[in-house]
Amino acid sequence: MARITAGIATSHVPAIGAAIDRGKAREEYWRPVFEGYEWTRKWIAAERPDVVLLVYNDHASAFSLEMIPTFALGCAETFEPADEGFGPRPVPAVQGHPDLAWHIAQSLIMDEFDITIMNRLDVDHGLTVPMSLMFGQPQEWPVRVVPLAVNVVQYPPPTGNRCWMLGEAIRKAILGYAEDLNVQIWGTGGMSHQLQGLRAGLINTPFDTAYLDKLTSDPQALRRIPHIEYLREAGSEGIEMVMWLIMRGALGGRVAELHRHYHVPASNTAVGHLVLQAVS
Ligand code: DHB
Ligand code: FE
Repeated sequence: MARITAGIATSHVPAIGAAIDRGKAREEYWRPVFEGYEWTRKWIAAERPDVVLLVYNDHASAFSLEMIPTFALGCAETFEPADEGFGPRPVPAVQGHPDLAWHIAQSLIMDEFDITIMNRLDVDHGLTVPMSLMFGQPQEWPVRVVPLAVNVVQYPPPTGNRCWMLGEAIRKAILGYAEDLNVQIWGTGGMSHQLQGLRAGLINTPFDTAYLDKLTSDPQALRRIPHIEYLREAGSEGIEMVMWLIMRGALGGRVAELHRHYHVPASNTAVGHLVLQAVS
């Protein structure tokens, strides 16, 4: 049977991808950002997951205001890097796992989560930057990926509680898949950041730190944070953090924090990163 062995949370700042692609990762500004991922890169090379269910958001790359699915599951064979205005990032195409993805789609819909099925999905920095952070610059990504795109760009995004419940339903689906697969679930986005308006540049370290703490110590409390509190405390783009609750809901009752990294700033953002091990 497939197993969910670990969860990763990480910010997905586009400038991190540009720093990697342009060979700037060792520069003074970027070094402390990347140093916090070195532990994880060694750890994941030893863990060798078969599949990552990668929760991320599209930033008006594959979708636009014409179509706004709340939850969209990537069921295709491959996912090409999206052109976000500067040409696609020079990273490999992402290999999907259509059989697992369709199994998850069916299980979710039978569990009354009416997700959107994507048979074509170009993936932007929300997905490719976490891949680069974990795996560097390989010729091929060493893992298959089932992308789950969540609308956190156009109001109304899903609630944290709904994200948690979707995580639980994803857990049930993956544990019910017959093949023996080592599956990780990643939640991306955040942490506090606001890219627009009068409060552009907002960072709230106490909020971020409490959020990181509670993912292990009191995750139930995070389910109840309303949209307005994310907006007030973590800025207009801080709502991306609800995606971490899909990851946490999928990990089950107890987790152990294996690794944490928090750094300000990267571009306009607080970078947060956690590695959580499922303790069954
Ligand atoms: C930025 C964009 C993002 O999508 C994000 O999650 C964080 C930062 C940016 O443009 O700096
Ligand atoms: Fe983002």
